Amino acid sequence: MAHIIKICMGSSCFARGNAKNLQIIQNFIEQNNLDAEIELTGLRCCDNCSIGPNISIDGEEFHNLDQGSVLDILENKFNK
Ligand code: FES
Repeated sequence: MAHIIKICMGSSCFARGNAKNLQIIQNFIEQNNLDAEIELTGLRCCDNCSIGPNISIDGEEFHNLDQGSVLDILENKFNK
């Protein structure tokens, strides 16, 4: 895998947006045929709830994500 996306599935992040964000990431991967390039992993709470919902892409962290910002980040990172 060339890239790793980690998404916090802890209850705070999950309830505050990562449930939807997960679907958006999965759809993005599928629609752009990136299955072979991106590994998507769920994480437990990483003690950053106050700045969540949180994800990381190749070690770079992103916070306070909503559905629009997740899509922007993915499009930017993967040039889609
Ligand atoms: S639930 Fe995501 S950092 Fe705590």
